[in-house]
Formats: sequence, structure tokens, C-alpha cells
Amino acid sequence: MNRSRIEQCRIIDLPKIMDDRGNLSFMESSRHVPFAIRRSYWIYDVPGGESRGSHAYRELEEFVVALSGSFEVFLDDGVHQKVVTLNRAYYGLYVPSMIWRRLQNFSTNSVAFIVASRSYSEGDYIRDYEEFRKANA
Ligand code: TYD
Repeated sequence: MNRSRIEQCRIIDLPKIMDDRGNLSFMESSRHVPFAIRRSYWIYDVPGGESRGSHAYRELEEFVVALSGSFEVFLDDGVHQKVVTLNRAYYGLYVPSMIWRRLQNFSTNSVAFIVASRSYSEGDYIRDYEEFRKANA
């Protein structure tokens, strides 16, 4: 298996239909998001200073959108790290499998909306950083 690299994480712009009545954005499997969407979940009401999701997935791919407010996504491929700030509802961050990621610095009332390539499976998680680093070496 090729190791995942931080450069594979990328911002993807979504359609934005501007309208005086309010703007509209959308995403479709395979067309805007580079995988078939199997699941979506959202993170909200995050208390100040908290972070979510310090782990990697063996197989799962995700696409993360800040539907409201802002937060950072910390990304780590075991060698290189970077932080991406999400703060608009018309683009998102693609995160392939085998990238350690953490959502952090949530603004008040922010909502992280995530679409995923697989249904929930605890067995797909790598929650131990050293195990991840060795597996992605
Ligand atoms: P988890 O992914 O560990 O949250 P985080 O990484 O943000 O800290 O999920 C927390 C709990 O929610 C965990 O017990 C499993 C459950 N869960 C589901 O049942 N389905 C899902 O789609 C997700 C994302 C979590």
C-alpha cells in the first residue's frame, strides 16, 4: 500500500448559486466529492477549547465542510503536518484514508459537516498515533 501524503489533502470548491433570497451550495457523489458518499455526520455545540477526532482511518475517505462558523483541520501524514482553516459553506477539505486528523479551534456556533465513503466502523479507526505512524511509513 502506498503511504498517504499530506499533499493529497485538498480544498475542493463546491457550486455556489448566488441568489438575493440566500445562497445555495450542494455536492454530489463522485462529481464534486471524489468518492461515493455512504454516510454523513456533523459536529456542533463544541465547547470552547475542545477538539474532535484525533485519529486516522485505514480505509475511509472524508470531505469536511464548515457549514457555519470556522474551525481548523490539523493534518499529519506521519512526516509532515499542516493546518487548514475552514470557514465557508461553499468549499470543503478532502481527506484521504491514512491521514491523522484533528478538528480544533471551533468558533462559537460552528458546524462541521462531514461526508464519508463508508458506514461507521470502529475497526477502521487508528487511535494510537505511533501505530498510525508505523502503518503509514
Ligand atoms: P468518533 O468518530 O470517535 O468522534 P471524534 O473522532 O470526533 O472524537 O465518534 C464518537 C462516537 O460516535 C463513537 O462512539 C461512535 C459514534 N459514531 C457513530 O456511531 N457513527 C458515526 O458516524 C460517527 C462519526 C460516530
